[in-house]
Amino acid sequence: MYKFIVEGPTQLKGEIVIDGSKNSALPILTASLLAEKEVVIKNVPKINDVFLTLEILNELGCKTIFSDNSVIIVPKDNMSYEIPQQLSSKLRSSVLFIGALLGKNGNAIFYDQPGGCEIGKRPIDLHLEAFKQLCVEINQDNHMLFCKTDRIIGNEIFLQIPSVGATENIMLASVKCRGTTIIKNAAKEPEIVDLARFLIKLGAKIKGVGTDTIIIEGVEKLNGSIEHKVIPDRIIAGTYLCAVASTGGEIVINNVIPSHLDSLLNILKNAGCSIIIKNDYLHIKKIKRLNAISKITTSFFPGFPTDLQPLICSVFSLANGVTVIKETIFENRFKHISELAKMGAKIINQGDLIIINGVERLYGTNVNAKDLRGGASLLIAAMSAYGQSIINNIDYIDRGYEEIENRYNKLGAKITRVSDN
Ligand code: EPZ
Repeated sequence: MYKFIVEGPTQLKGEIVIDGSKNSALPILTASLLAEKEVVIKNVPKINDVFLTLEILNELGCKTIFSDNSVIIVPKDNMSYEIPQQLSSKLRSSVLFIGALLGKNGNAIFYDQPGGCEIGKRPIDLHLEAFKQLCVEINQDNHMLFCKTDRIIGNEIFLQIPSVGATENIMLASVKCRGTTIIKNAAKEPEIVDLARFLIKLGAKIKGVGTDTIIIEGVEKLNGSIEHKVIPDRIIAGTYLCAVASTGGEIVINNVIPSHLDSLLNILKNAGCSIIIKNDYLHIKKIKRLNAISKITTSFFPGFPTDLQPLICSVFSLANGVTVIKETIFENRFKHISELAKMGAKIINQGDLIIINGVERLYGTNVNAKDLRGGASLLIAAMSAYGQSIINNIDYIDRGYEEIENRYNKLGAKITRVSDN
């Protein structure tokens, strides 16, 4: 295990390029097992969740080669369909292997407690309900799910929650269905659009992605030997923006898609950051203390993303005034609050509300990362805090950020990775 030692405060200055999106790469790598021939996925971040996904693909019988942020995947026809529990229990997106395997051969065996950050109960009931509506028989023995179908039969599915994972799983299961599947109240996140672009390159017939109604017309078979470049990671870009808004300074962010960050950009501009937006470029500058924003509510895309909620907690801990954040997506995405309070933030959680009374300064101390984005919020708070901070359990952060300390040190941060023992 490792921890970060962070000296603060440091301002950030310089230029960065955004990595490929974790939440786009994971479903696309999973979907590649549907191909008939080899596929090449470019702009894949070197992070632990990707390594776990490749391990599952290997266990199922695919060949995978990962070098220089590109992955070659050679799928196998009669592959295994039991998703290894010791891997799936570490990765939330492993649940997508059910849809991909059902879409490929009509069989999947899955341990029903996928891993992922403990930010809520995160059930998979919507996924399983949808599979049953697609004529999948699901038998449960203890925590093991045995999913089977002779053929996926297209159907109209209304999602009670516009779940990102459930929308992706239904798409994966339906690309070779008999007839047509229509997903109503579908998720509209950019990662859904990227997954659909990949599947369409494979020969799938999908319309309406990016809206709340997606139509998937089943095809007999998919092809392969295609290449796909993953979109830039909007949450990594948002983390950089929040880091500057918290520590001060100015940076240029290249190869970003600003329209994926409208809600955050609007908040940071209203709070007092100066931001220049071009088609694939952002320039952000923070020279004076920000003003509080009275109310921010997380919601589904294009609303304010829950994944950036911990990050703006660090930003508004130093703003002038009171900011109230309402977390509407995950019922337990509050574990970073106690740790920010140790650094001097006047921040409390009341039900689904986070109430922040901005202070002039935070102070370095010993804190613990408890999930991926909460860990990142502690890192940007430590960069703006006075004195030395130690951030423990940084393997959470490594799940979603490639070489984060090197990226921020190039901008002027002082972060050292040291072994725990
Ligand atoms: C994806 O998780 C992302 N992960 C999450 O990012 C992101 O926070 C989330 O979407 C929301 O945008 C990946 O893409 C790998 P959901 P997912 O299904 O698909 C409830 C990060 O930090 N729900 O949209 O698991 C669920 O409990 C991670 O990168 C059910 O009740 O999210 C939650 O309250 C964290 N039943 C809400 O829906 C279900 O069957 C939204 O979850 C499924 C979901």
